[in-house]
Amino acid sequence: MKKDVIIACDFASAAETYAFLDRFTEEKPFVKIGMELYYAEGPAIVREIRRRGHSVFLDLKLHDIPNTVEKAMRVLSHLDVQIVNLHAAGTKAMMEAALKGLTREDGTRSILLAVTQLTSTSEERMHDELLISGSIADCVCHYAQMAKEAGLDGVVCSPLEAGMVKERCGKEFLTVTPGIRFADGNKGDQVRITTPARAKEIGSDFIVVGRPITAAEDPVAAYRKCVKEFVL
Ligand code: C5P
Repeated sequence: MKKDVIIACDFASAAETYAFLDRFTEEKPFVKIGMELYYAEGPAIVREIRRRGHSVFLDLKLHDIPNTVEKAMRVLSHLDVQIVNLHAAGTKAMMEAALKGLTREDGTRSILLAVTQLTSTSEERMHDELLISGSIADCVCHYAQMAKEAGLDGVVCSPLEAGMVKERCGKEFLTVTPGIRFADGNKGDQVRITTPARAKEIGSDFIVVGRPITAAEDPVAAYRKCVKEFVL
């Protein structure tokens, strides 16, 4: 898949989401559907956004015992989305089970990514609250390596870590990176952030951008600015 900007459609309802997507008359952006929208609207929202011609990253970040995740992934495998994900912290056994569940009878499947450390987590909190010692970079690279060994296609990480992940896991191993802000933008609750242009330099394959586009006065212009910095 070629480099692209994925818009995080973190809206509370289908109506709000369609009103937002209807503003894009000239392009069909890649859309991320997260927990808020999926829990509010269920699989119907995924089918409708696919029907409208958008590629979809279904960001449900599964994390449970292997058997439960395998069965949940089997359900998601029928939704015809491009990307789904889980938490690497669920262990390699969970990731392997997920891959099995996601693979359809004909052998095809969505891209499966592992979340390493959320881009809202600082190193200090990772040490003090999660009791994971070492640097965030070490943890992210270790989780990426586990994901690769389990057969996954890539990870979700901060753009600041994308280069290290590629070094450890190879060029083909995908890095999908949220935590994107324009140079003059508001950080919000994100911690490990950078700009679309810098994410491109470091080597991200996809950037996930939410509020800098969805909360912009002109979301279409903000989306085009991301595409210009990251893709073109
Ligand atoms: O609004 P903002 O650009 O911060 O949105 C980032 C999106 O990426 C959110 O939907 C968030 O759930 C998601 N995400 C993240 N960090 C991760 C994985 C996903 O911010 N590690």
